[in-house]
Amino acid sequence: MKYAFPKDFIWGVATAAQQIEGGMTDGGRGLSNWDVFSRIPGKINKGGVPDVACDSYHLVERDVEMLKELGVKSYRFSFAWPRIIPDGTGAVNPEGIAYYKKLIALLKENGIVPNATMFHWDLPWALQAKGGFGNRDMVKWFTRYAEVLLDNFGWDVDYWVTFNEPIATYVGNAAGFFAPGLNDEAWARQCVHNLMVCHGEAVKLFRKKNLPNAKIGIVVDVWKHYPARPDNAEDVASAEFNNEIAGYGMFLHPLFLGGYSEKLMKHMRDNGIVLRMEPGDYETMCQQVDFYGLNFYNGLYDNVDEERRRKQAVAEGGNYQNRPEVHTEVLVDVLHMLKDVYKINVPIFISENGMPQTDTPDVESLLNDQERIDYIKGVLKPLRQAMDEGVDVRGYYLWSLMDNFEWSAGYEARYGVYYTNYETLERVPKNSAKWYAKVIEEGGFED
Ligand code: NOJ
Repeated sequence: MKYAFPKDFIWGVATAAQQIEGGMTDGGRGLSNWDVFSRIPGKINKGGVPDVACDSYHLVERDVEMLKELGVKSYRFSFAWPRIIPDGTGAVNPEGIAYYKKLIALLKENGIVPNATMFHWDLPWALQAKGGFGNRDMVKWFTRYAEVLLDNFGWDVDYWVTFNEPIATYVGNAAGFFAPGLNDEAWARQCVHNLMVCHGEAVKLFRKKNLPNAKIGIVVDVWKHYPARPDNAEDVASAEFNNEIAGYGMFLHPLFLGGYSEKLMKHMRDNGIVLRMEPGDYETMCQQVDFYGLNFYNGLYDNVDEERRRKQAVAEGGNYQNRPEVHTEVLVDVLHMLKDVYKINVPIFISENGMPQTDTPDVESLLNDQERIDYIKGVLKPLRQAMDEGVDVRGYYLWSLMDNFEWSAGYEARYGVYYTNYETLERVPKNSAKWYAKVIEEGGFED
């Protein structure tokens, strides 16, 4: 059967600055929260640090060559705040600006549409030291950073994402295994509250700039939980908690419906969590965006009896690779939920999707990644179905262009369609890269 996508469907790949750039102190870059966090013993699998990563700071031409080889229509990357404004609030770094100018010029020369994220988790360390997102001044700091980006790149970037997966800020402050490594739920909720105000202020600022061709949105990942045993009350409660209290609901409700859900309010009351807010915050968070980016990897089935085992697996690093079952078919339900429950009425992009391989010295086996091809097919099929059923999805970005620094999982989880040799920094196409290039060329695939 042929799975064909519209002619103007945007096929792309995605990366993020902290995961690929390296050049930690090159070109005037300041340190980030992750540069520092990764040095805390035991935080990153096998002690991986992002100092060099894929060295894209120096190898940007090669990255663009790969994009050309794939034939992507768009590249989703992120700006590193510590490279643009090294201490977060002070002088703008001309070398940082020049780096992204070069990348964007190369993309444009090759007809590749830039899709840029303002914040993909790498916070200037100087700001983390002042409390990071927990400090309300972050709204001022972030808005100024956003203005520097819009003034320098506003005319050249077509798609602007304010924040990528704000849940990382929640996890980093509530569960300790992401930067900055704190374990305080009340503080974490304050951080994400302030973050969503930052988002809203950036959207308002963007509107004032009147950039003729640019659009702005936000990326929220959805890992939807379902009860493994629908008639087991504990499984049902667990799924509901993981979706609405500790998952996507804490963002989608304020961003698209306005304010926190009743369930989340109750949870906060029951736990003595009181957020510091300012008048107008709910309205600011709920700005009209031009598009929504869905990072989608898997659906999860909660079985409370197995929960302890699962937690253990996740604690050992990474997300997908430790989850035994693949439930990508839930994408149909997830996309309908965005439309029907959260009333998202703007175009949707799959802003990330992909699967990791566990590192092994057997490079051949990494290059022969049929499992990844099958996994992607298992996503594109329900995606096509949801589009047929009326969900307005405009594009798909594969995570990732190349193997890179996978946060707490370090270099152990390889998500790339290009293999990265971390010793020589050479990138080699995996079978999935060749397959994906064909999908792009043909606008779909036969299966
Ligand atoms: C989510 C994040 O946005 C990205 O940085 C990460 O590498 C992938 N998903 C895979 O875990």
